[in-house]
Amino acid sequence: MALPTPAPTNTAVVTGASSGIGADIARELADRGHGVTLVARREDRLRDLADELASRVRVEVIACDVGDSAARGGLFDEVDRRGLTVDILVNNAGIGTIGSVTKTPVDDEIAQVRVNVEAVIDLTTRAVQQMVPRGRGAILNVGSTAGYYPFPGQVGYAATKAFVRTYTEGLRAELAGTGVTVALLSPGPVRTEFLKSAGMDERKFADAFPKSLWMPSREVARAGVDALDGDKGSVIPGLPSRLSTRLLQLVPRRFLLPLLANQHPGLKRDLGRDRSAS
Ligand SMILES: NC(=O)c1ccc[n+]([C@@H]2O[C@H](COP(=O)([O-])OP(=O)(O)OC[C@H]3O[C@@H](n4cnc5c(N)ncnc54)[C@H](OP(=O)(O)O)[C@@H]3O)[C@@H](O)[C@H]2O)c1
Repeated sequence: MALPTPAPTNTAVVTGASSGIGADIARELADRGHGVTLVARREDRLRDLADELASRVRVEVIACDVGDSAARGGLFDEVDRRGLTVDILVNNAGIGTIGSVTKTPVDDEIAQVRVNVEAVIDLTTRAVQQMVPRGRGAILNVGSTAGYYPFPGQVGYAATKAFVRTYTEGLRAELAGTGVTVALLSPGPVRTEFLKSAGMDERKFADAFPKSLWMPSREVARAGVDALDGDKGSVIPGLPSRLSTRLLQLVPRRFLLPLLANQHPGLKRDLGRDRSAS
């Protein structure tokens, strides 16, 4: 089962399309002829991307805070009102708290669950209930390699991505044979606005993780769309990220977790163990 064939009244809804991986997933889908509906809070950024893509496919812009249940509830109605059918959904919007839980505002932890977990369940459920009766559709959920093991320094974030992983894998099995394909994209580190939004110094982060793990956003986006198109189910872009994720899963957690806690730049910063110049 591949991606649905593009059609003029069909659209791919991409959340978090105003920057980073989401913007590149929208570009990748547009390159393959799929009309796209760009969703995020920063409408000006979405309009810039819409201008870039409009010569290729039909592009819609819907400003929506997917962490807000009421706003989210109206999203598919708005797509419908524009005469379009959602045949691809990409749950990419995501935020991350970084650092010690002792220093993280509780509101930030909860906002992260709303965007990374609640919005994924909400939009996926609505999409599935439209797609399965039609017997066609595709859903791509963006997880993270941090969803494969507990990650001291980003404990809440890693837990939300573990949710995305198990939810997506289970959903894929549940929808087998319905004509709706489901895939999980789990990137390692990618240079986007993600770290800045989380208040983290990118240089310190880059120093803490091997260079070979970092991937360009466009390659990550292509790997995700390829996984949907090839019905692969799950992809970790880049051989170094795939190998290190598998390796870290094999190390007993009683050894692994203290090591990760000792290395994480967010914990070094928050617990006063950061000896590098700022
Ligand atoms: N960068 C990495 O190293 C990395 C690694 C693994 C996984 N990921 C995952 O990849 C996905 C994309 O992240 P990115 O790296 O591309 O980061 P990014 O450049 O910061 O992009 C995040 C996107 O999510 C949107 N977003 C955030 N909160 C939102 C909300 N409440 N409502 C609607 N949209 C919202 C942002 O748009 P607005 O601010 O305009 O709303 C933005 O378009 C996330 O799920 C992230 O967890 C990233």
